[in-house]
Amino acid sequence: MRGIEMVAKTRVVVLISGGGSNLQALIDACAQSHFPAQIVCVISNNPDAGGLEKAQRAGIKTRVIDHRDYESREAFDVALQAALVAAQAQLVCLAGFMRLLTSAFVRVWEGKMLNIHPSLLPSFKGLHTHSQALDAGVKWHGCTVHIVVPEMDAGPIVVQAVVPVLPEDNAQTLGARVLEQEHMIYPQALKWLAQGSLDVDGVQVMLKTPVKIPYSQGNPSED
Ligand code: GAR
Repeated sequence: MRGIEMVAKTRVVVLISGGGSNLQALIDACAQSHFPAQIVCVISNNPDAGGLEKAQRAGIKTRVIDHRDYESREAFDVALQAALVAAQAQLVCLAGFMRLLTSAFVRVWEGKMLNIHPSLLPSFKGLHTHSQALDAGVKWHGCTVHIVVPEMDAGPIVVQAVVPVLPEDNAQTLGARVLEQEHMIYPQALKWLAQGSLDVDGVQVMLKTPVKIPYSQGNPSED
């Protein structure tokens, strides 16, 4: 392609603990030639995570770092950091990763690590977010992609999606409606971060004017 400089795709490692439907949404997005990121490794703290198979099916390298093999959170995070360095990660996506990370680890990845949470933060942090929403009687619920900071389920908000709470909803039906939106917004947020479109100023995240950049696929043999 004469006259056009190709930019290498940003190397992303996805951390999971479970089924990996958000991982699958990221895999599908990264499969598009114009997408600015490539998933170079998927790491799970749970050897039985269904997402591992999804990654393998897509030809992505997987690693299990079982937190039960480590005596402390710090020791687990040191192992995780070593795996990220080995994968030459540039960005990290938490996709249903259900372990709290130490402040020291989070600071290393400041501005370079995203998380998806199944609520409209700052409402309903932690677990059972759909039951929390139903119990609170809110009429609108949703999901959030945010930049990870040491505090749990906090950090500058990149994008949110909203769904109605219907009178007949239970946690399962509401959760399914939210999950559909998660699969839309997570690839979008990763795209923005990977192509350098985000300006973060305190808690405010602003979108820069998009620029069209041609991306080259990294050499798979390097992975
Ligand atoms: C998703 O709903 C994600 O938002 C949530 O776990 C689920 C994982 O599903 N994450 C958290 O609650 C983190 N605080 P998945 O494995 O099918 O992507």
